[in-house]
Amino acid sequence: MSSLRRLTAACLLLAAASAPTWVQADAVEDAIEYRQGLMDIFSWNLTRMGSMVKGETPFDAAAFKGYAADLAAASALNFMAGFPDDSVSDESEAKDEIWLNKADFDAKHQAFKEATAKLATVAAAGEEGATREQFKEAAGACKACHKEFKK
Ligand code: HEC
Repeated sequence: MSSLRRLTAACLLLAAASAPTWVQADAVEDAIEYRQGLMDIFSWNLTRMGSMVKGETPFDAAAFKGYAADLAAASALNFMAGFPDDSVSDESEAKDEIWLNKADFDAKHQAFKEATAKLATVAAAGEEGATREQFKEAAGACKACHKEFKK
């Protein structure tokens, strides 16, 4: 083989070997961006409701209802799509435990989904006391998952 041919063959081999990894790395990055984007939506709404509950901003039932509805809608999106197997990276704070204990992770997400759906219902009914109580449940569901599954 001429040295040029040898080089071409080596390049082709290298390209073939690295192609699948490229695709995979891309899919992992996309999933990480998706789940972090979802979390940012959760956080946007939760923070604003939290300020009202803490009295940092005046309690505005109509605004609260909107945040609660958006949080419930976001938590009903396909959450697990953001956590394909082994989607770990330096850009992510996801712990390996997610994939080692997927049933528990999924259960934590279900509990969160239920808590936010209930929050949207009580906030829509305009019951301030019940809304404040249920807010704690929803915020607690974020923490319960982060404690075990987020670095
Ligand atoms: C079922 C588990 C689970 C629930 C429920 C959950 N989170 Fe997370 N959260 C995670 C994991 C895992 C990460 C790390 C994601 C990553 O970096 O790849 C994360 C990351 C985040 C981040 C950082 C996002 C970023 O851009 O790096 C914020 C903010 C956040 N969560 C807010 C919330 C809020 C607010 C709630 C509740 C309203 C919530 N999360 C509910 C698991 C959860």
